[in-house]
Amino acid sequence: MKVLVVGGGGREHALVWKLKQSPRVKEIFCAPGNAGIAALATCVKVSAEDISGLLALAKDRGIDLTLVGPEAPLCAGITDRFQEAGLKIFGPSRAAAEIEGSKVVAKDIMAKYGIPTAKYAVFTKPEEATQYINQIGVPCVVKADGLAAGKGVIVAMDKETAIEAVRSIMVDRDFGEAGERVVVEECLVGEEVSILAFTDGVNVVPMISSQDHKRVFDNDQGPNTGGMGAYAPAPVYTPAVHRQVMDEIIVPMIRALDAEGRTYCGIIYAGLMITEQGPKVLEFNARFGDPETQPVLSLLETDLIEIIDAILENRLDSIDIKWKKQSSVCVVLASGGYPGSYKKGKMIKGLDQVPDDVMVFHAGTAEKDGEVVTAGGRVLGVTAAGPDILSAINTTYKAVEKISFDGMQYRKDIGRRAVERVQ
Ligand code: AMP
Ligand code: GLY
Repeated sequence: MKVLVVGGGGREHALVWKLKQSPRVKEIFCAPGNAGIAALATCVKVSAEDISGLLALAKDRGIDLTLVGPEAPLCAGITDRFQEAGLKIFGPSRAAAEIEGSKVVAKDIMAKYGIPTAKYAVFTKPEEATQYINQIGVPCVVKADGLAAGKGVIVAMDKETAIEAVRSIMVDRDFGEAGERVVVEECLVGEEVSILAFTDGVNVVPMISSQDHKRVFDNDQGPNTGGMGAYAPAPVYTPAVHRQVMDEIIVPMIRALDAEGRTYCGIIYAGLMITEQGPKVLEFNARFGDPETQPVLSLLETDLIEIIDAILENRLDSIDIKWKKQSSVCVVLASGGYPGSYKKGKMIKGLDQVPDDVMVFHAGTAEKDGEVVTAGGRVLGVTAAGPDILSAINTTYKAVEKISFDGMQYRKDIGRRAVERVQ
């Protein structure tokens, strides 16, 4: 079959890499893709947000199945549009994807169905949000309601920061329409874990757990990013925590969405904080995580197409999904200055020095005069598996040392928390 992958980051490179291994996949297209994806798929210059363009592409090329990486097209209704046109697509509908597109929608559903999450209040007026912050005090967390590319969440340790966050979101409109409403919530304390699950709307099969590293610098210092690295599985996610997460969070959320007329089909991503009172939801996403997908998919044994077919045919319970009993680590190599402003077009050296058992997933790269150059904030995701977390870390960082570009920055402590727990 011919498959179209929508997006052009590290997550999409990992998806294309995994699809390429399926005996059922004949040809892969990716829109817009990147320099790494171009080695495995035909990249077409159509933006991931141009739904009409993607629809035309899928019809033109006779695509049998479309997979959507990023949230923006899902929240804009790409699934509904493709289905109306009679095309097969994997991803939640617009109404279901609203669990990511609106934090207010997600929080209100969680509150209505008793799904554990931080206490919160919603505001449409900045003065009222500020008054509430003065009343509850700090630390607190201020979130823009809509999509903000991971930047619309401010964890405030002092009142000035919280009030400034309200101003930037609601008055300056730093995230545009996403700032029409804000959520102010209680600050949760604990270790974070990401749980991605396959679901056909009734059956739910979790993937192995993973942990992202959101802050830009080592020891979780500096501003939040899209994610500077991830590993899987996460030892903090014990069998007892897993049972609680499935029974109290993931399955009830899928049931709640169905009851609300937002039947969820696709990948559901729960960002969780493992607190002293048990696991609580930080956020839901309507897609594979980036960079979590890189280590998670590298451990998936089952053909992804078999899983997707089972989901689209509402028979996810009919297949057995298998994982390698290994650990996997992804270290993101980012442009100097990221998540602030950064330069593009830097030549990337050493890619040919990386051993074959290490995957270098491209996130922000482009080809220029036959060379691979930087083209984004997150540039590469170096990913390797091993029999345990320590060996996966060692293999990954050894490969990282082979690669260089002007201004390259990366965290040196990806996976360290897992090593501490295991020891
Ligand atoms: P979100 O996009 O909602 O997951 O938020 C991004 C990051 O902000 C999360 O991964 C957490 O590190 C942090 N965060 C969000 N909500 C809270 C909360 N209620 N308490 C503490 N940290 C939070
Ligand atoms: N790694 C965080 C996300 O995909 O939203």
